[in-house]
Amino acid sequence: MATFSSSSILFSFVFSLATVAIHVAEGTGEQSPVLFIFGDSTVDVGTNNFLNTRAKANFPYYGIDFPHSTPTGRFSNGFNTADQIARLFGYKCSPPPFLALEKHPYSFKKNILKGVNFGSAGSGILRETGLRQWGEVVFLEKQVQQFALVQGNITETLGPKRTAYYLSKALFLISIGANDLFDYSRNQSGSIRLGKQEYLTALQQNFYVQIKKLYELGARKFGIVGIAAIGCCPAMRAQNYANGGGCVTELNDFAHAFYLATQSLLNRLSSELKDIKYSHSNTIAMTFPVLQTPQLYGIKDTESACCGLGKFNGEGPCSQLNHTDLCKNRTDHLFWDWFHPSEKASELAALTLFQGGSQFMTPINFSQLARSP
Ligand SMILES: *[C@@H]1O[C@H](CO)[C@@H](O)[C@H](O)[C@H]1NC(C)=O
Ligand SMILES: *[C@@H]1O[C@H](CO)[C@@H](O)[C@H](O)[C@H]1NC(C)=O
Ligand SMILES: *[C@@H]1O[C@H](CO)[C@@H](O)[C@H](O)[C@H]1NC(C)=O
Ligand SMILES: *[C@@H]1O[C@H](CO)[C@@H](O)[C@H](O)[C@H]1NC(C)=O
Ligand SMILES: *[C@@H]1O[C@H](CO)[C@@H](O)[C@H](O)[C@H]1NC(C)=O
Repeated sequence: MATFSSSSILFSFVFSLATVAIHVAEGTGEQSPVLFIFGDSTVDVGTNNFLNTRAKANFPYYGIDFPHSTPTGRFSNGFNTADQIARLFGYKCSPPPFLALEKHPYSFKKNILKGVNFGSAGSGILRETGLRQWGEVVFLEKQVQQFALVQGNITETLGPKRTAYYLSKALFLISIGANDLFDYSRNQSGSIRLGKQEYLTALQQNFYVQIKKLYELGARKFGIVGIAAIGCCPAMRAQNYANGGGCVTELNDFAHAFYLATQSLLNRLSSELKDIKYSHSNTIAMTFPVLQTPQLYGIKDTESACCGLGKFNGEGPCSQLNHTDLCKNRTDHLFWDWFHPSEKASELAALTLFQGGSQFMTPINFSQLARSP
């Protein structure tokens, strides 16, 4: 009996060393760094399925182009931006949501070594963002707390030294901020409220704290996805219908101001924190070439959502149950639903994030970030 239990301890020790080696090797590999993903609906791969929220996408036609035409909670017809980035790094799709992994305690400690996605639709940098509009969402601070738990569990498996090495090679992707700006613009007529500049400052202060927390937990490589030209999404065009249905320039300008503020935040972080590396995308700039010459990208419609209802299909979410409109050709639409890019648009975005030049990616792109020592 004694012999049996000590040999099974030995076996599990050898086994866990083997697992570690594989993932450390993956982490240092050219193409497959381990991914930890944070953010909103642009990267949510099913987190919100577990929440009491109105921000959900686990019903048709969402997922119509996903393998087996399955709605998974992704706000896309197929793979979303998190998946498309992961695919360029050699994975099949994004790592699974933290809330899904947590449901399987026996495999949890092994699974988290392969990466985790914390993204939650409707969430933002501020705690209160999304709450009024969508109900329960996992805001950035809470996503970082969930990562702290994961980091603790990884440390139990690998020990502190190996964990530090392992995390220093992983990529920490963050795609957040759009919902903070949407919430601000929804509440323009709000009573006592912050001015735009003060609001931006509050966002950046909070962003700073969260990135620094991740750094303190061992993160070194940050891929920051900037806010897109959100004023051009079908929901905003529909709201702007009376004025011609153009992009809401005020929102795009706000997103650009957020981009500039994040640039200086990242500058500051890299002078304060040893060995930190980052890649930051100017997502608004990435969108403009596609809006100007869509045909170069095989896109025909840059204004209306493929799936939805009302003007620009931008007046409500996509829902088969509610008999919303569904376009014939999903690969020639920039937008899938009222707020979200199509699988095709996410693919184009991910390509630029991965290998784009300095007009879009500063100071380096994601592939360089992954290869950096
Ligand atoms: C992960 O860490 C938390 C906090 O320390 C702990 O409560 C939990 O049991 C751990 N999970 C596993 C699967 O070991
Ligand atoms: C607008 O903002 C104010 C101040 O933060 C808040 O008290 C109010 O409830 C908000 N209203 C809406 C509709 O979000
Ligand atoms: C859909 O659009 C793409 C890109 O414009 C085009 O290549 C493809 O042939 C179209 N498919 C159909 C079924 O029309
Ligand atoms: C479908 O329509 C019902 C009734 O109008 C509404 O309550 C529900 O939120 C709609 N579902 C979606 C996904 O839009
Ligand atoms: C971005 O990535 C590609 C592929 O790794 C690389 O060849 C290229 O030089 C990078 N672009 C810039 C502007 O650094």
